[in-house]
Amino acid sequence: MTESPILEIENLSKALGGKPILSGVSFSVRRGEMKVLIGPSGGGKSTLLQCLNFLHLPDAGRILLDGQAVDPRQRKSLYAYRQKVGMIFQDYNLFDHLNALDNVSLALRKVKRMPRADAEARARAELARVGLADKERLYPAELSGGQKQRVSIARALAMDPQVMLLDEPTAALDPELIGEVLTVIRELARSGMTMIMATHQMGFVRSMADEILFMQEGRVIEQGTPEMLLDVECGSRTLDFCTHLAEFESGGGE
Ligand SMILES: Nc1ncnc2c1ncn2[C@@H]1O[C@H](COP(=O)(O)OP(=O)(O)O)[C@@H](O)[C@H]1O
Ligand SMILES: [Mg+2]
Repeated sequence: MTESPILEIENLSKALGGKPILSGVSFSVRRGEMKVLIGPSGGGKSTLLQCLNFLHLPDAGRILLDGQAVDPRQRKSLYAYRQKVGMIFQDYNLFDHLNALDNVSLALRKVKRMPRADAEARARAELARVGLADKERLYPAELSGGQKQRVSIARALAMDPQVMLLDEPTAALDPELIGEVLTVIRELARSGMTMIMATHQMGFVRSMADEILFMQEGRVIEQGTPEMLLDVECGSRTLDFCTHLAEFESGGGE
């Protein structure tokens, strides 16, 4: 018997500024799965992730969580969904005027209505889980990029999400800080968290992705395991794209 998917995306379409950005995107995600979105800039990865959290309302299509279609026009349905689907952004989205502990505990108090002491205890546990137990009093301006991204992961985890959406979580980081964030994400995946992550960190993709979705011009044009799509002889668009990426990086980039 196959387990039913935790998340189903059916025929999602979205236009922005009169231009189609996503066109009929469909896929499903199993519990505990790591799906990776790859593809050229402008291909629609961020727009897709934002639709999956209803930061953009899809023009057409459906999103089902645990078999239940989400109706973003019903506040209750939307808020319940958002608590179950955490989002990590490239630029962290922390509150600059709050220290790490308050960044992580705020939604527990305001959204989950936890008493302050309980919310702070939970926030401390999540900060410890991402290796920041000794940084709770520091403000975003006093943290490195890697530490800020780990605070944002702790904040998402504190809400007990069933699925995490990650939009190029290491793209804004200096190279020496990428590893510490990927280590946290790897541990999360190993603990069974379901994730959809846009990333071009190919070592991570090869070792961690259960499936790659290659997106171009708002469509998923290839879908398969890293073994299938990154095999040197497979001739996939994914491989071609990733090879150019590697050449660019080894050429020094900027
Ligand atoms: N608010 C917007 N209005 C109009 N076009 C947009 C808007 N946001 C994104 N786009 C366009 O949507 C396309 C897909 O962008 P995006 O989802 O950010 O792709 P990716 O994350 O793969 O780089 C791009 O052509 C971008 O210019
Ligand atoms: Mg993007």
